[in-house]
Amino acid sequence: MRHSTLRQLEVFEAIARLGNFTRAAEELFLTQPTVSMQIKKLTEAVGLPLFEQVGKKIYLTDAGRALHGFTRELLDQFARFEMTLADMKGLKQGALRLAVVTTAKYFAPRLLGPFCQQYPGIEMSLKVSNRERVLERLADNLDDLYILGQPPEGLDVVAEPFLENPLVVLAPVNHPLAGKKKIPLARVAEEPFLLREPGSGTRMAVERLFAERGLKLKVRMELGSNEAIKQAIVGGLGVSVLSRHTLALDAPMGQLAILDVEGFPIERHWYVAYPSGKQLSVVARTFLDYLKQAPKHVQDVPCHHAEQGECPLLPAKPAGEKVVSA
Ligand code: PGA
Repeated sequence: MRHSTLRQLEVFEAIARLGNFTRAAEELFLTQPTVSMQIKKLTEAVGLPLFEQVGKKIYLTDAGRALHGFTRELLDQFARFEMTLADMKGLKQGALRLAVVTTAKYFAPRLLGPFCQQYPGIEMSLKVSNRERVLERLADNLDDLYILGQPPEGLDVVAEPFLENPLVVLAPVNHPLAGKKKIPLARVAEEPFLLREPGSGTRMAVERLFAERGLKLKVRMELGSNEAIKQAIVGGLGVSVLSRHTLALDAPMGQLAILDVEGFPIERHWYVAYPSGKQLSVVARTFLDYLKQAPKHVQDVPCHHAEQGECPLLPAKPAGEKVVSA
């Protein structure tokens, strides 16, 4: 085992992660015979089979699973060491793996753009999925940092708020409640409601609020994305509650109204989180420090909503009804 090389372990990790020799070869820019040869040598060094093939699928054996855990730690440490070296040389270089919830995609570009310009040597990868998937990735320690709408319960994590995330009630602009003041929550509960898919953080917050008030939503439809919900609202299928940030990109032009409902906006925050005990890389630390200035960065990047005097990513003016025209 001591004679196996880092390259062999890299090849093994890629196969274990991708479940496939061909894809691992492609990812590492190697030929398939090279990959097979590396695994043959590694298997000989370990002295036990690492994979078993059932039909077309490849599974890890017990020894394979043990080696996979060890390999991931080793490769992580190696990447951190490379970044420490780069830091000693005065370069901010390396990779930053981020996993963010779907709704974060509305502000992430405004934050990542200036960061990438400031540190062109940093290679950024961004996984966008709903809250449940992001939490699974966090539990598996797959990324450097995670951005989500509320610190996860039951997981041992460090979580820091860095930006406000107000949830608002949205209706079509010609809805009878548009323009009304202080609409009771119970009145909203009478409207056909469009709800995000199970596993969504937005959905969790909405369900919690209505349940706390003893109200039941009249769910007309479940939809798997904020975009689909905005389109369905404009199509007259119902009202919904979404992050105000979802109005920052491609909001249907002038066709949505934010209703003035008691208890709204729901004041949430965006959090950046990582498992406690995780040793952050230099690059991840740099990004964390950068996020602490997030409101300033968001403000600094010009926004196409500025002409209306209102950017969905900045704190709202204290007005009642607002018509949103993107
Ligand atoms: P979602 O998460 O995109 O999964 O709804 C948003 C949030 O947690 O606020």
